[in-house]
Amino acid sequence: MTDLIRIEDTPKYLGQTVKIGAWVRQKRGSGKIAFLQLRDGSGFMQAVASESELPEEVFKVAEHIKQETSVYVTGVIQENPRDDFGFEMALKDIEVVGQSEDYPITPKEHGTEFLFENRHLYLRHLKPYAIIKIRNTIIKATYDFFYDNGFTKIDAPILTGSAPEGTSELFPVEYFEQQAYLSQTGQFYGEAGAMAFGRVYTFGPTFRAEKSKTRRHLTEFWMIEPEMAWMHQDESLEIQERYISSLVQAVLDNNQAELKMLDRDPKTLEKYTQLPYPRISYDEAIEMLKKADFEIEWGEDFGSPEETYLANQFDKPVFVLNYPKAVKAFYMKRHPDRDDVVVSADLLAPEGYGEIIGGSERDTDLDYLVERIKQEGQDPATYEWYLDLRRYGSVPHSGFGLGLERVITWVTGQEHIREAIPFPRTLNRLWP
Ligand code: 4AD
Ligand code: MG
Repeated sequence: MTDLIRIEDTPKYLGQTVKIGAWVRQKRGSGKIAFLQLRDGSGFMQAVASESELPEEVFKVAEHIKQETSVYVTGVIQENPRDDFGFEMALKDIEVVGQSEDYPITPKEHGTEFLFENRHLYLRHLKPYAIIKIRNTIIKATYDFFYDNGFTKIDAPILTGSAPEGTSELFPVEYFEQQAYLSQTGQFYGEAGAMAFGRVYTFGPTFRAEKSKTRRHLTEFWMIEPEMAWMHQDESLEIQERYISSLVQAVLDNNQAELKMLDRDPKTLEKYTQLPYPRISYDEAIEMLKKADFEIEWGEDFGSPEETYLANQFDKPVFVLNYPKAVKAFYMKRHPDRDDVVVSADLLAPEGYGEIIGGSERDTDLDYLVERIKQEGQDPATYEWYLDLRRYGSVPHSGFGLGLERVITWVTGQEHIREAIPFPRTLNRLWP
């Protein structure tokens, strides 16, 4: 079908007769005129069928069309200033390709549970469409940013034998005679990569058996984990803020239509491209929280109310530096002047979206790492290969992990992280 055009290209065909393969989202109007709301994956457009200008059989097909029927439509492209898209088709002919009887997601309101039971169909609708398009932009912008900044992509395995982020949230997998787990981080493979390629990043699905239901947690999420040799934490923070800014800018450049579909004000996002982002220490954060009457003591990790409060004190993402050693992973570098904190940073998104990046400088001391692994109740033997990175030409290095769906949820202004991934996996969702 070489003569088909796509909806996104229709403005180029103003005044011409074209043919489009599309689905009918909705039919409105009755009697003498029918408005077909079409979508073809590239965009949304209306086709107008008027009884007075069409053969009787053609008008009948248009008038009785059911939601999500697939069709070839032929007609003339004309301007429609009242429509968001600005163009519409004056229908001349319509041919049904696939019927659609009793499509479940009708124009009435449906509950979230129902929509996600039907995610395979719900993906066709406006909101998921806009979010997944923005996800696509963020993925492309990620590849661009790291390519342009001299990073090499290192793909980490998904089947692993270790648990760098702790053992409480692992998905076990039978691996012949051995115990394996679904990867909870690609970081250690990234560290190995950094010693070979200098600057690398991993980008893949990661898994955490999160037993709690929250708006921010998936059991399967995509993480981007850059790792940089010969780099201290300060420079890593600069890369992090430049990376986030580039993602937001890419969405502003490419997704104005989608932001509008989501009622997300681009002005809000524009602020987030302005660098630098503020930096506060964990100590300062605790002071701020205490002043605001939070019941929290130095040494405790932040929950989502604390993160939200802290982030709300700034109009841009904020770095919280140097967390207590006891609440962070064993590989984080000890602070040079203090024994109780590590050289770490979490980046908290504004508007209550919580932590979008976690990262740190990495400790390079072999004996210290062995000791910390034991303290975590893990077996250093599991990490022999990782410890080799400290035995053979260890260098200062830093890295971080960005949760793709956290960023998408924030940028698109969604209530819940399940909206940010095509087929979400949560505590009680394994289907579809
Ligand atoms: O802070 P986390 O656990 O850090 C790591 O995994 C490090 N290995 C990263 C590194 O230094 N290479 O996770 C990093 C980010 C979080 O900031 C958050 O954005 C996201 O991953 N994340 C989740 N996103 C969705 N669902 C979950 N259950 C998540 N857990 C973490
Ligand atoms: Mg974290």
